[in-house]
Amino acid sequence: MTTPTYADILSVVADDFAMMDKQVFGSLNSKVQLIMKVSDHVINAGGKRMRPLMTLLISRMLNDEQHKQALELGAITEMLHTATLVHDDVIDESGLRRGRPTANATWNNATAVLVGDYLIARSFNLLTGFGDMTLLKLFSDGTCDIAEGEVLQLQHQHNIDTTENDYLQIIDGKTSRLFMMACVGAALLHGRHDDRQLLDVLSDFGQHFGNAFQMIDDVLDFMGDSETMGKNLGDDLAEGKPTLPIIKTLQILKDKDNANYDKLRIAVQTGKANNAGELIELVRSSGALDYCKKRALEETALAQTALMKLPDNQYRHALYQLTQLASARLV
Ligand code: IPE
Ligand code: IPE
Ligand code: MG
Ligand code: MG
Repeated sequence: MTTPTYADILSVVADDFAMMDKQVFGSLNSKVQLIMKVSDHVINAGGKRMRPLMTLLISRMLNDEQHKQALELGAITEMLHTATLVHDDVIDESGLRRGRPTANATWNNATAVLVGDYLIARSFNLLTGFGDMTLLKLFSDGTCDIAEGEVLQLQHQHNIDTTENDYLQIIDGKTSRLFMMACVGAALLHGRHDDRQLLDVLSDFGQHFGNAFQMIDDVLDFMGDSETMGKNLGDDLAEGKPTLPIIKTLQILKDKDNANYDKLRIAVQTGKANNAGELIELVRSSGALDYCKKRALEETALAQTALMKLPDNQYRHALYQLTQLASARLV
C-alpha cells in the first residue's frame, strides 16, 4: 500500500481546511501593530495545521456537515500551538521555524514572549465565545499541562539521570495534551459532553498520536533534513535536552563503552557539544534510534486501536492515514 500524502488527507475536508486556515490570522485584531506583524510572521509562515485538521476530521466524522464552530475551534487551537512554538523557540534559543527565522531571532526574546502571551490570551478570549464551560475547562486545564510539560523539560535539562518515564511525562504535557484537546474539543462541539466513552476514546487517540509524533520529531532531530522540517536540527543535543534518543544512547553505552558514554554525558551535562558531529554519529550508530522508532510505532498502534472504536467513515480513514503518514516520516 502506498503511503498517502498530506494533500490526500486534506482533500476530504479541503473547504473546511481553507476557511480554518484563513481564520488563524484573521481572528487577530490587535490595535498594536507589532503584535500583528510578529503574528503574521509566525502564523503565515505555513505550518502543517495538523491539530486543527484533526478537529475538522473528527467533527465531520461525528456529523458529516460543515460545522462553523469546528473551523473556529481549529483556528484557536492553531493559535495556541503557534504561541507554544514562539515560546519554545525562546527557551530553546532556536533560530529557524517554519522555514523562517524565529520571532526571537527576528525581533528579540522579550517581543517573542509577549506576543506569545498575547496569542494565548486571544485564544481564550475567542474560546469564551462558545459559551461552553466544559470546553473552556478542557482548554484551560490543558494549557496548564502544556506549560508544566515545558517547565518539567527545563527542570530535566542537563540531567543525565532523566528516565524514559520522565520523558513520557514531559511529552505528555508539552505535545500530546494539545492533540488530545483538539480531538476531545471536536466532540464537545457536537454536545457529546456526557458521552464518556467517546471522550475517552478521543482522548486516548490524541494522547498516543501526540506521543508518537513527538518521539518521531525527536528522532528526526538526529536524522532529519533541516530544509524539509523548516527548523534547525541537532538542537536537542546542543541544548543538553534529554530526549528519548539521548536517554537511550546513554543507557546503551553505560558500563559498555566508557569513553563514549563520558563524551555524551559531558555534552548533556554541560550543553557544550563542541564535537556535535561525532556525538550525533554516536547516537545514530548506538541502536538507540531503532528503539525510539519502535516506541513511536507502538504509540501509533495504540492511537490506531483507539481510532477503530470510532464511527467508520472516510473521515476516520483520513485520520488513520494521518497516523500512517506521521510514522512514515521515520522510514
Ligand atoms: C512542532 O509541531 C512541535 C512538535 C510537537 C514537535 P509541528 O511539527 O506540528 O509544527 P508546525 O505547526 O507544522 O510548524
Ligand atoms: C515542541 O518541542 C514545542 C512544544 C510542543 C510546545 P520541541 O522543542 O521538541 O520541538 P521543536 O523541535 O522545537 O519543534
Ligand atoms: Mg524546540
Ligand atoms: Mg524537536
